[in-house]
Amino acid sequence: MVNYKVADESLAEKGKEALYIAESKMPVTAKVIRERFQKEKPLKDITVAGCLHVTKETGNLALTLKAGGAEVYLCGSNPLSTQDDVAAALIKEGINVFAWHGNTDEEFYWCIRKCLDAKPNILIDDGGDMIVTAHQEYENLINSDNILACQEETTTGVKRFRAMDKQGVLKVPLFPVNDARCKNQFDNELGTGQGIVSAIYGMHVLFAGKNVVIAGYGHCSSGMALRARGLGANVIVTEVDPIKALQAKFSGYQVMPIEKALQDADIILTATGCKHVIAPRKEVFDKLKEGVILGNLGHFDIENFAHISC
Ligand SMILES: NC(=O)c1ccc[n+]([C@@H]2O[C@H](COP(=O)([O-])OP(=O)(O)OC[C@H]3O[C@@H](n4cnc5c(N)ncnc54)[C@H](O)[C@@H]3O)[C@@H](O)[C@H]2O)c1
Repeated sequence: MVNYKVADESLAEKGKEALYIAESKMPVTAKVIRERFQKEKPLKDITVAGCLHVTKETGNLALTLKAGGAEVYLCGSNPLSTQDDVAAALIKEGINVFAWHGNTDEEFYWCIRKCLDAKPNILIDDGGDMIVTAHQEYENLINSDNILACQEETTTGVKRFRAMDKQGVLKVPLFPVNDARCKNQFDNELGTGQGIVSAIYGMHVLFAGKNVVIAGYGHCSSGMALRARGLGANVIVTEVDPIKALQAKFSGYQVMPIEKALQDADIILTATGCKHVIAPRKEVFDKLKEGVILGNLGHFDIENFAHISC
């Protein structure tokens, strides 16, 4: 029996098509490994819980884990990234899904708890919320031999767990997937860089001639800068790390303090993993150009003015 709570089960057919499209673009996970798993069943009797962006790509990961014999539980790692059609299709494939687009903070953690209630043996996290919740509320699970291993997918999550490890409070073995070079140099730098720029471009915004301010010159942000420049924007980088700032300067970008950069910004994009990067103050907001576009790719929505009511 599949346990679930999704937005609308009738979207399953549409979600199935989306899963199929992604499958054709990810042959290693969705074909090579899945076929091997189907034969060998390496995850027989194992429960896997994933707190991930519930999209057509992670949907295929869930299907591959299931093909390997695992019982799979899935919840969203961001309330805004869940694709409701994919969530609906996955329950028809026997995945236990607790995710819907736009869930509240309370619902977000309810979904995480539904996955942890299944006493998973492997936790796959994106941002750290599931593993941190397990440490705070599921002491018996965390302290038992039940957990074989955990994984963390993103920079912010890895930083959270490194800090926990330093304090001696991380109680599970953890693979920092984000540290794999084929993750941070390709997904972060090239994938997400293209993703945010194409999302804005898709709203029929012309980048050519626009002043685009990029906060950060790390993996994701340098990718965003590259894509924005490729579309003809005048890219201005702000960085707190002097070496990264020099890298940006030597790559041909203007580099300046954020207060100065904001004055003429048409588009402001953040990807630092830090809070209040633009500014927590309303005075700064009031000085921005009319119609400026704000975008954040960092894991939490705390980098810009999201919490200011204007
Ligand atoms: N949305 C996605 O699909 C996705 C994918 C990968 C990573 N992420 C998230 O994006 C964020 C960045 O990840 P990354 O891998 O690029 O990290 P990174 O450490 O490579 O880069 C972050 C950069 O921001 C700089 N920075 C920090 N505070 C700043 C400030 N106040 N002003 C200007 N620059 C500042 C740092 O010096 C660093 O160079 C993280 O939150 C990560 O979890 C999101």
